[in-house]
Amino acid sequence: MKKQLFVLLFALLPFTAMAAPLPEQPFSMTPDLHDKESLQRGMQMYVNYCMGCHSLEHQRFSRAAADLDMPQELVEENLIFSSGLAFNDQMHIAMQSGESEGWFGVAPPDLTLFNRLRGSDYIYSYLLTFYRDPGQPLGVNNMVLEASAMPNVLEPLQGVQEMVCSETDQPVRGQSPDPLSGKYQSCDVLQVTQPGSMEPAEFEEAVYDLTNFLAYVGEPSKLKAQALAPKVLIFIFIFGVIAYLLKREYWRDVH
Ligand code: HEC
Repeated sequence: MKKQLFVLLFALLPFTAMAAPLPEQPFSMTPDLHDKESLQRGMQMYVNYCMGCHSLEHQRFSRAAADLDMPQELVEENLIFSSGLAFNDQMHIAMQSGESEGWFGVAPPDLTLFNRLRGSDYIYSYLLTFYRDPGQPLGVNNMVLEASAMPNVLEPLQGVQEMVCSETDQPVRGQSPDPLSGKYQSCDVLQVTQPGSMEPAEFEEAVYDLTNFLAYVGEPSKLKAQALAPKVLIFIFIFGVIAYLLKREYWRDVH
């Protein structure tokens, strides 16, 4: 028995090894797949601001329309911009990954399963923490993905965000103290220094909707599964009662 347990534990090892640690995420959000209005707004944001570079290869416009209660005409008129795409198509992009790799150095990844890879806290934090950094090729950096090759496409909405540094007595990794004051520079606060078209709270809500939509895209059948779950449980319960009564009936003759 001990040996079998040992083999079982050993077999589970690869799963623990696969869960690579993620960088610390400053913001967190809980997806709400029942909030269809949020998901609809998120999809609208996605096609307007992200689909120029990121495809959703495993998601069809028609599936999203059905799941999020959007009529076909509305989707065709407002959400399908590329002339080569139709309602039943997957959400492809026109850009070839070879081309984009030339422009950005890294090809923008397909985002269908990204939420399952990194989680919604990661996406939410990534989109909220772009900040101006003249030292980077595109003039922006990101707190979650250092030296990210993605341009800050939401800057017109959020405004310009900058890193605010302050002096601290706590040692900061990779830094030697200032020779005069003996203090360290701590840079971990972001501040909007030039407003965009949205207020900060409004922007956070828009990014929430966008992240919520990406959470839905990662598991589109979750909505249906959740609706089905109570019915399955009720069925198992009723079947259990019947099976128990049947068992009692059979065993009555045996005893
Ligand atoms: C102009 C092209 C472009 C647009 C538009 C764009 N991205 Fe990106 N995105 C990139 C590139 C390039 C990368 C790869 C960054 C890297 O690995 O350094 C990337 C990476 C990402 C990643 C992965 C980060 C990681 O940790 O690997 C996410 C998530 C992401 N983008 C989300 C979005 C969302 C959401 C939008 C819409 C608001 C968007 N992107 C719009 C080019 C773009």
